Amino acid sequence: MDTSALKKELVELVEGASDMATLENVRVTALGKKGRITDLMKTLGAMSPDERKSAGAELNVLKDEISDLIEKQASQLKAQEMDSRLANEILDVTLSPRPERRGTIHPISQTMDELVTIFADMGFEVAEGPDIEDDFHNFTALNFPLGHPAREMHDTFYLPNDERKDGEAQKKVLRTHTSTVQIRHMMQNKPPVKMICFGRCYRSDWDMTHTPVFHQMEALYIDKNVTMAHLKGCLSDFVRAFFDIDDLPVRFRPSFFPFTEPSAEVDIGYWKENGELKLGRAPNPENQKWLEILGSGMVHPNVLRNCGLDPEVYQGFAFGMGLERATMLKYGIPDLRSMFESDTRWLTHYGFDPLNRPNRATK
Ligand code: PHE
Repeated sequence: MDTSALKKELVELVEGASDMATLENVRVTALGKKGRITDLMKTLGAMSPDERKSAGAELNVLKDEISDLIEKQASQLKAQEMDSRLANEILDVTLSPRPERRGTIHPISQTMDELVTIFADMGFEVAEGPDIEDDFHNFTALNFPLGHPAREMHDTFYLPNDERKDGEAQKKVLRTHTSTVQIRHMMQNKPPVKMICFGRCYRSDWDMTHTPVFHQMEALYIDKNVTMAHLKGCLSDFVRAFFDIDDLPVRFRPSFFPFTEPSAEVDIGYWKENGELKLGRAPNPENQKWLEILGSGMVHPNVLRNCGLDPEVYQGFAFGMGLERATMLKYGIPDLRSMFESDTRWLTHYGFDPLNRPNRATK
């Protein structure tokens, strides 16, 4: 059987196929159920054994050659197609992302970044501690007496105990404040210590102004000659920088915390104009009002002792601030709960540009 004419014809068809659809038609023409080669295969049955042997072998070779050729042509066509797509569908990576698809930085994260830049300028480093704490770090080391109301079940989230190894000191709690990190940091670092820390805190509260989870910032400064004057200077500078009001009135009001002595609550000044809250010095002193924003004090000698420091040698101050409240005041956010709802409309409105983060050079 002479198949050279057929071969020539089929090779031309395959090589002439300039797209995948045409190539598929050629494949059907050559190798399909009613294809040219298939038709010839069907004639083998009528041949003499000798003829069948040589014609069969020739047809099989032809079939393999044409299949290989079709495969080769297919991969060439696919490569060409890819090349032309790459050439035509050019992506301009220098274009800015479409605004509707850009995420925003949550106001709490924005506040943390701003606080880092302010305290970095004053020489503070950033520390961390775990959300799941033990009784020792959350209460005992911080000089909370047994029976203190904060230790009650209805104020604090306790975790199930492992009866075999957990004594009272290891009782697990979701930390109720970031003051736990003071203890961890003092036990691990020699003074001078100058740190801030951020973290989630948990209390069994739920109303207009309290959620069971919220954020705090803690600051701690321990050295040989730290006094209440440092506390007042540092805190006044910080709140004025944070709220970006140079003459923001700052008031220190005596208070109590088990882990500081003396303790002071810090208030900032505001007044009302047409019912709207304005931070700052009231134009008429009679209208000056005060808002509490944080708790502070000189670290209690017992706390220093609990961390292995001699209170005759070292002193220092600490303070803790709720980040939600500070953020709401700074950016005029009315409802605390909206902070945790992940509503993208809220985030788009109150969120911040991810490509323009606060830093020490731009603030
Ligand atoms: N831990 C206190 C609170 O949660 C705040 C505080 C921190 C007060 C450090 C004084 C010193 O309310």
